[in-house]
Amino acid sequence: MAEISTTAKLPPSGDKRGEVGERLWAGSMTAITLLLVGVVVYTSAHWGFHPPSQVETIDSTSLHEGGEFSEANLGTVIAPDGSAVVRVVAQQYAFVPDCLVVPAGKPVTIRLASADVVHGFLVQGTNVNAMVVPGYVTTVHTMFKDPGERLMPCHEFCGVGHQAMWARVRVVEPSSFPSDANNKQKAVSCAP
Ligand code: CUA
Repeated sequence: MAEISTTAKLPPSGDKRGEVGERLWAGSMTAITLLLVGVVVYTSAHWGFHPPSQVETIDSTSLHEGGEFSEANLGTVIAPDGSAVVRVVAQQYAFVPDCLVVPAGKPVTIRLASADVVHGFLVQGTNVNAMVVPGYVTTVHTMFKDPGERLMPCHEFCGVGHQAMWARVRVVEPSSFPSDANNKQKAVSCAP
């Protein structure tokens, strides 16, 4: 009967090849990890990422019954300093209003609430990109440099009509802003 040795296949102690391979492997993995962390930090700072502000709660089942997100309050209100606050409800399968009008070159705060399920929204060509979770108010602060029209699609799958859920953002010169919005607390939009 042959003798079985459990140590026969181990490399002789002091074998450097295995050790060099281990060090190369550990070194390259550390370098890749540091590179990925660096990319996250750089893009966060460079593209102005900011964490979503889902700290403000709201009762999503009664948005239409009054309060901040009742129908008359939806749209854009211009403050005396020219900045704008836009209030939007996201629901299956539309944003209300579905055309937002905002002043160019002024601070814009967009506040969204969902009336049903989780939605998402982004404004093309900008860093505006956030989720809208029922029960919370999503707040985004931004500024639109140039006049023009941008698309604002829902980017979170929210049901069979998801692909049809989008709005437009019309950026206009502050001087051509709908005059009934100036210095009155009346919300306006470009929705028909
Ligand atoms: Cu709302 Cu997808």
